[in-house]
Amino acid sequence: MPEFDPLFIGKNYISFETLDSTNDYLKALTNEKKLPEGTVVTAANQTKGRGQAGNSWLVAPDKNCTFSILLHPTFLPIDKQFYLNMAVSLGIKDACEYLLGDTLHIKWPNDIFYIEKKIAGILIENTIQGSKIVNAVVGIGLNVNQLDFAGINATSLSIAANSDFELKEVETVVFSHIEKYYAQLRLGHFNFLEKAYITSLFRYQQTHEFMTEKKKIRGQIIGVSKDGKLLIESEDKVLKFGLKEIVFLYD
Ligand code: BTN
Repeated sequence: MPEFDPLFIGKNYISFETLDSTNDYLKALTNEKKLPEGTVVTAANQTKGRGQAGNSWLVAPDKNCTFSILLHPTFLPIDKQFYLNMAVSLGIKDACEYLLGDTLHIKWPNDIFYIEKKIAGILIENTIQGSKIVNAVVGIGLNVNQLDFAGINATSLSIAANSDFELKEVETVVFSHIEKYYAQLRLGHFNFLEKAYITSLFRYQQTHEFMTEKKKIRGQIIGVSKDGKLLIESEDKVLKFGLKEIVFLYD
């Protein structure tokens, strides 16, 4: 594997054997002291990992990457917060593609999918002061060496590649790829990020069924709005959905 040498993510690296949640720990630490951008908190065993929409993130100890990265995207207008999500999602997707030598997709808004299964999840928690995002705690759960996901639609790098990975090496690859897209964000290359994100979307421009709050619809994902909502074209209309307003149906 070629050497990856991240510039700033992971230079300040705080690791624990066991922690409730790396996001919670890092957020609490930012309230206590000023931390350098790129600070990483990692835990081999996370007992109260949190996921999107109030869900929990529970994975086997010692087998997966569960860490949080501190970013200071003060340059990013608040109404462009979703672009941070795009940059991080693209970074993890590219890292997994590098590690597996295969194509992955981003299931809107930020699940990383290998074929039809989730391999990684992202929970970004922003602290806003005035008109600036002063802290973004980017929590990442990437399934690496776990082989059994009883009853969950999930997979891991190891299942996909049929071999185990060094967790530290995987982290380094992920840090480097996130840095690459974060640099694009810093440069204000929004169109580039949006195009890369949209064309990476799971089920982009394919006709599928979705469950909305009211009814089942059939349509195609055509993109995302500026505020990160999912745009689906169905029966010649463009419909817009937030996080809890749409469920992907598996045919
Ligand atoms: C999701 O897909 O629902 C998001 C999952 C995010 C899980 C990670 S694991 C490291 C970090 N700490 C947490 O408590 N959650 C995130």
